[in-house]
Amino acid sequence: MHRSLLSISDLSDEDISQLLELSRVFFEVNAREIPKVPALRGKTVATLFYENSTRTRLSFELAASRLSADVLTFTLASSSVSKGESLRDTAETIEALGADLIVMRHSSSGSVQLVDSWLEVPLINAGDGAHEHPTQALLDAVTLMHEFESGNRLDGLNIAIVGDILHSRVARSNVQLMTRLGATVTLVGPPALLPADLSLWPVKVSNFLDDVLSECDVVYVLRIQTERISESLMPSLSEFSKSFALNSARLSRAKKDAVVMHPGPIIRGVEISGDVADSHQSLIRKQVKNGISVRMAALYWLLGADKGRLETLW
Ligand code: NCD
Repeated sequence: MHRSLLSISDLSDEDISQLLELSRVFFEVNAREIPKVPALRGKTVATLFYENSTRTRLSFELAASRLSADVLTFTLASSSVSKGESLRDTAETIEALGADLIVMRHSSSGSVQLVDSWLEVPLINAGDGAHEHPTQALLDAVTLMHEFESGNRLDGLNIAIVGDILHSRVARSNVQLMTRLGATVTLVGPPALLPADLSLWPVKVSNFLDDVLSECDVVYVLRIQTERISESLMPSLSEFSKSFALNSARLSRAKKDAVVMHPGPIIRGVEISGDVADSHQSLIRKQVKNGISVRMAALYWLLGADKGRLETLW
């Protein structure tokens, strides 16, 4: 059985520590004048994205090239999927071309798990439907650990995740990882954008952002994922913004040193105001930057452990 990185729930505490430790190694690599190491020379990493992406795909591809791997990019629009090729045939073709690892995104929850069962090579889940997005959660945890200088833990932090929780794979991965690392998480949103049954989630829940802000160290804002909502159930964006958009008036009610996070893409004026997104309290650009080191760690964790490749980091 090969190892893959499909969800936070699959990871043991030991796996999480290894990934966090490796991320530190790659922060150091990325701070060098020439941020490139031969660690994955001769390996081929393929990105198989059935859904649009800017930062996740680019940061995986950059991470792979900084590890000296070859990169194969599959783009849906120009692929044979338009000729009717199945998911299984496409994935097996990429494997047959010699990919040693596939980074995959798809709009169906569970699709990455299914492809993983068909292939011999490891897979990284870069987002499957509303299910999981484990490297986003890892990069968010690392960003908070840097910001709060909290070692490999998030103990004592009060984190509100705000907005469209129902359709968010980022929320599902983050709730698991943040709470395992010691944080207290409150999910905040209108009932229509919260899962109907949250009884098994290790979280607090509120329908009123203004009620929870004063306790928050971190306000983690989510986009309304319109691509997963049928038109008839679409909330009124202006109503949503009135009660849930993070603007400077609201942010001033959070703790003095509170920080703002968002996985991107941000929709200015809907879930977050432009001035908050650009403020000194915003970690949004740092999240993107840290994603490169975390994805280098994930690729190395799955492909680099053989043949003493660690020495190739220097
Ligand atoms: C998120 C995603 O695709 O799940 N973005 C990301 O990966 N940075 C969130 C979103 O699309 O709103």
